Amino acid sequence: MLGNFSYHNPTKLYFGDDSLSFLKDEMKNYGQNILLVYGGGSVKKNGLYDEITAILKECGKTVAEVAGVMPNPTVEKLREGVKIARESKADFILAVGGGSVCDYSKAVSVSVHCDDDPWEKYYIRFEEPDCEIVPVGCILTMAGTGSEMNGGAVITNHEQHLKIGHVFGDDVMPKFSILNPKYTMTLPKYQMTAGIYDIMNHICEQYFSGEDDNTSDYISEGLMRSLIHSSRIAVNDPQDYEARSNIMWTATWALNTLVSRGKSTDWMVHMLGQSVGAYTDATHGMTLAAVSLPYYRYIMPYGLKKFARFASQVWGISAEGKTDEQLANEGLEAMESWMKELGLVMKISELGATEDMIEGIADGTIILNGGYKVLDRDEVVEILKASM
Ligand code: NZQ
Ligand code: ZN
Repeated sequence: MLGNFSYHNPTKLYFGDDSLSFLKDEMKNYGQNILLVYGGGSVKKNGLYDEITAILKECGKTVAEVAGVMPNPTVEKLREGVKIARESKADFILAVGGGSVCDYSKAVSVSVHCDDDPWEKYYIRFEEPDCEIVPVGCILTMAGTGSEMNGGAVITNHEQHLKIGHVFGDDVMPKFSILNPKYTMTLPKYQMTAGIYDIMNHICEQYFSGEDDNTSDYISEGLMRSLIHSSRIAVNDPQDYEARSNIMWTATWALNTLVSRGKSTDWMVHMLGQSVGAYTDATHGMTLAAVSLPYYRYIMPYGLKKFARFASQVWGISAEGKTDEQLANEGLEAMESWMKELGLVMKISELGATEDMIEGIADGTIILNGGYKVLDRDEVVEILKASM
């Protein structure tokens, strides 16, 4: 392991079937005014909203609400949330939902006491917060993004055709997150599988880089094997608690800063997928699925040894009598058939992308340099065309 790093993760987790029982105790640590943030209504349908508001009432809290946070939360919605947080003098933000609600709550938390426009400050100029940050806690209802234990907050600006993530530091990460796998069981299959692929890709983004022997890669391989195993069970029986709990826990560890330690990281599938998302507003995990294979097949020759290792250590393919190239190809074939087994979207055209969007999507793709191959713009266009 050749990198230099520090490691600290401040988020406290409560995991399991009775994890909501810890909310009451946690609430003692924060002020009177709670801003309750949730999405388009799933929490009302499954009864979670009633349970949480009853607990907040028992704690004697004053509750204001931001409802209707959409998947891929927008900058307009962010401004609305900031206004409500200011008017209600929010002391604490309680996010109840998936990655969108958690991300959104973090974006509000750094904007309430900030005079600048949050989009310009955090998403265009990439500045760090220099104001008071309202603490956030999270009750997660969908496994995928890892937002429950990281500083990520992705916001979409439809007018500018940009979807951008800012990874904030320790101060912005949730103070606590409550993870009850049962809450994820009401997810539609499309969202469940999109989340599963999001998890897989978070691990791949951190795995496909570097040449050194690194413990982080071994942890990643274990996480991927567990995810593949549990995903096959969950897709056949979404009510299987054991599989859903493993998926939920894997999601958290896939993107909570652990497996990137001592590594440069790639993140180009996310850059491509996010730009597709900015144009189509498609489900995050599906945008990643649709660009992944063209991207990985394109960069494979530049990171051949790692792709061969991926085939044998993650997919259990025998190396006997094979060149690295054959083995690496078989690994990507195994990933492709698993993706099809889950029913993932394999083309950006199926998500609403059209030929005339390709140039714009390429313009919106931020090119990073931590992976095996630094792409140029023409290569981005080529990969997007191969994803159609
Ligand atoms: O809005 P409601 O009605 O709650 O419905 C949601 C939404 O329609 C539904 N849902 C969530 N939990 C449910 C449920 N439906 C039934 N039962 C439940 N228990 O699922 C839909 C999608 O929810 P969303 O929160 O959008 O999904 P996800 O968790 O995938 O979050 C996506 C957002 O996170 C960002 C993405 O870009 C996207 O904006 N990401 C955040 C990251 C981070 N913080 O580090 C990293 C990721 O790579 C990602 O970019
Ligand atoms: Zn993701």
